[in-house]
Amino acid sequence: MARTALVTGGTRGLGLAISTALGAAGFRVAAVYHHDTQAAQALAAEHGIAVFQWDVGDADACARGVAAVQAQLGPLDVLVNNAGITQDAMFHKMRADQWQAVLQTNLGSMFNMTRPVIEGMRERRYGRIVNISSVNGRKGQAGQTNYAAAKAGILGFTKALALENAARNITVNAIAPGYCDTAMAAGVRPDVLQAIVAGIPVGRLGTPTDVARMVVFLADDAAGFITGATFDVNGGQYLA
Ligand code: CAA
Repeated sequence: MARTALVTGGTRGLGLAISTALGAAGFRVAAVYHHDTQAAQALAAEHGIAVFQWDVGDADACARGVAAVQAQLGPLDVLVNNAGITQDAMFHKMRADQWQAVLQTNLGSMFNMTRPVIEGMRERRYGRIVNISSVNGRKGQAGQTNYAAAKAGILGFTKALALENAARNITVNAIAPGYCDTAMAAGVRPDVLQAIVAGIPVGRLGTPTDVARMVVFLADDAAGFITGATFDVNGGQYLA
């Protein structure tokens, strides 16, 4: 019987590649999106993936949304916490709302999405949770104190949750992607991005597929001995 996976931010960028790769690997997939209805409709039409709309920064919306997904697709076996935003600014110019928004969406969502899913996984004694961090949560990045703090927070969350759930056959891992060819990186000023790419040893941006491959690997039944780990997919930009 096919396993069921939910991917947040699952209709664009890295999440689009993750949703379609999991679908191609035989998972029943629910992709959660926030704003871009057109992208969601295209994913549903082209790949037959179920799409759901809510804000992962809103705990009540997540509880309601997870219940709706499970009512439609069955119990969740795999959760990919991928949704994230940037609001870059040097810290001495950063507004409180930029700090709050990035922390709420990128780190608050770890609680909001995982809390309604974890009890069922514990009862069924099976789960695969993959949290998408960032190279910038590993190494820091000027202009991203909010994002780097949230993405580093994901790594602590991942390790603690892994320890709590290892005996229940639930693995919890993080992936730290480098700069990838997505709208998020395209939002960086061209001269700044060019300098960053010059510092990537493989000499290019990553592709969403580079990251999706790692998610599929970790989501597999056979990956049960891998937990609490962080996987760098960054073209050699940062070696931990
Ligand atoms: N290290 C140290 N100082 C730096 C710096 C750096 N890398 N970059 C800029 N500065 C300094 C500048 O020298 C300047 O100093 P002075 O005021 O003393 O001259 C000051 O910071 C301001 O620089 P800017 O004029 O560039 O500031 P700005 O306000 O126009 O732009 C910024 C700030 C928007 C944050 C811009 O620097 C920027 O875009 N940085 C890159 C952010 C980034 O990498 N985002 C990643 C997005 S993709 C993503 O997040 C996905 C993922 O996971 C990888």
